[in-house]
Amino acid sequence: MSLLEVQELSAGYGSLPVLQGLSFKIEEGETAVLLGLNGAGKTTTVLCLAGLIKPWGGKITFDGKNVTGWDPRKLVAEGIVLVPEGRHVFPELTIAQNLRIGAWPYRRDRKHTRAIVEQAVEYFPRLQERWTQLAGTLSGGEQQMLAIARGLMARPKILLIDESSLGLSPKLTKTVFEVVQKINSDGTTVLMVEQNAGVLKIADRAFVMEKGTLVYEGQGGEILDHAEIREAYLGAPA
Ligand SMILES: Nc1ncnc2c1ncn2[C@@H]1O[C@H](COP(=O)(O)OP(=O)(O)O)[C@@H](O)[C@H]1O
Ligand SMILES: [Mg+2]
Repeated sequence: MSLLEVQELSAGYGSLPVLQGLSFKIEEGETAVLLGLNGAGKTTTVLCLAGLIKPWGGKITFDGKNVTGWDPRKLVAEGIVLVPEGRHVFPELTIAQNLRIGAWPYRRDRKHTRAIVEQAVEYFPRLQERWTQLAGTLSGGEQQMLAIARGLMARPKILLIDESSLGLSPKLTKTVFEVVQKINSDGTTVLMVEQNAGVLKIADRAFVMEKGTLVYEGQGGEILDHAEIREAYLGAPA
């Protein structure tokens, strides 16, 4: 059984259809990546998976449960956690406060909260160095690290990361990808949305989307070797 199974998913905004029968599966323990040009429907897909927009049709099965149409909070409790496009850290709060907000589901258990905060910052020592700094004063790369660390606070079974490399230097992009690889090897399944071909080096499986449907599915390495797909859907590798 796959950890996540999306079947014939459709969704949109107002009367505008965006996802038009999208189907894919993600196995437990893998890093999958969703590729596609701007407007392909990648963000809409992860918003649906996180319950932030309601599907019009189709089915989402997670860890054996039909979770289609569930509320975001219930999905977080189930283990589906989204690190949204644009990071969305709380600029007026410190790094420490941003992380504690991520640990909200465990607020009654202070010891547990402290343990998961410590674990998350191990991935990002840079955050530890800037513990009391306001998030709004961090660089783009640091904010991205904070957004991912905050996502980890909720103890995801699957971490959905939307365009983590957007606006980052190649060096920081590489750092972020390496940390995601580490998070994955520690046992969290990952779905990344990306336009940066560098992500294929850490991806077990890649899906290419166009106009709300899947047009290609393969192993990460296969797409790197597939010049036509690479040129049509991806920027230069990091
Ligand atoms: N809030 C919204 N209201 C109306 N249309 C939207 C909204 N968000 C996205 N869209 C449209 O949905 C389509 C898919 O967008 P999106 O899922 O953001 O694509 P991607 O993440 O692949 O760039 C685009 O045509 C976009 O203009
Ligand atoms: Mg997007």
